[in-house]
Amino acid sequence: MSNERYLTFALAKGRLAEKTLALLEEVGITCEEMKDKSSRKLIFVNEELKLKFFLSKGPDVPTYVEYGAADIGVVGADIILEENRRVYEVLDLGFGACRMCVCGPESAGELLKHHEMIRVASKYPEIAKNYFYNQKNQTVDIIKLNGSVELGPIVGLSDVIVDIVETGSTLKENGLVVLETITPLSARMIVNQVSMQMESARIKELINKIKAAVEAKG
Ligand code: PRP
Repeated sequence: MSNERYLTFALAKGRLAEKTLALLEEVGITCEEMKDKSSRKLIFVNEELKLKFFLSKGPDVPTYVEYGAADIGVVGADIILEENRRVYEVLDLGFGACRMCVCGPESAGELLKHHEMIRVASKYPEIAKNYFYNQKNQTVDIIKLNGSVELGPIVGLSDVIVDIVETGSTLKENGLVVLETITPLSARMIVNQVSMQMESARIKELINKIKAAVEAKG
């Protein structure tokens, strides 16, 4: 056991990380150090299980995993699709469920139907491009924004947006509606391709344990 190397987890900061830690705890993987919210430490270790954990910005998680700086990552499917990194997606963790949608004022529905040249604002330009160009065969102008994307149609920057809808309340409060659903989303576990081979037994055991815990929740 003692010659085992550390397996490193990269977790997307925020709500997903909290839910991931709770799930890991259910399968006997704890990291006490990480619960101290006042700490400025970036990397946490469980010596007994030979595991390391770090938190990063969501979009960086697939990057750490692709380059092998982390063996395993937990991040939203939205980011996996947008970043399109060479990693294995091994498990749907079930939480963080929401959907990627085309949204806008009700009136923009006509523009979509008639495949007009429209402006699409999004924090997810790759997902928007893939959807409009490859799935719908519609030429559009994609404008990258970094947040509060719902402003796009309200202030006249764009006709529609491509964004995450969870409860739908942000849309509702801003007089916008879901026009088309692109794909359902949730938190996913990803694995570095080399780690999956070199540490196959350990990683598979871990995946199976977590999978059983996720399935037990239904
Ligand atoms: C996300 C998303 C929507 C909102 C959807 O934004 O971009 O704006 O949540 O949630 P709802 O359907 O439950 O209202 P986030 O809070 O991450 O902030 P951002 O706009 O700065 O990206």
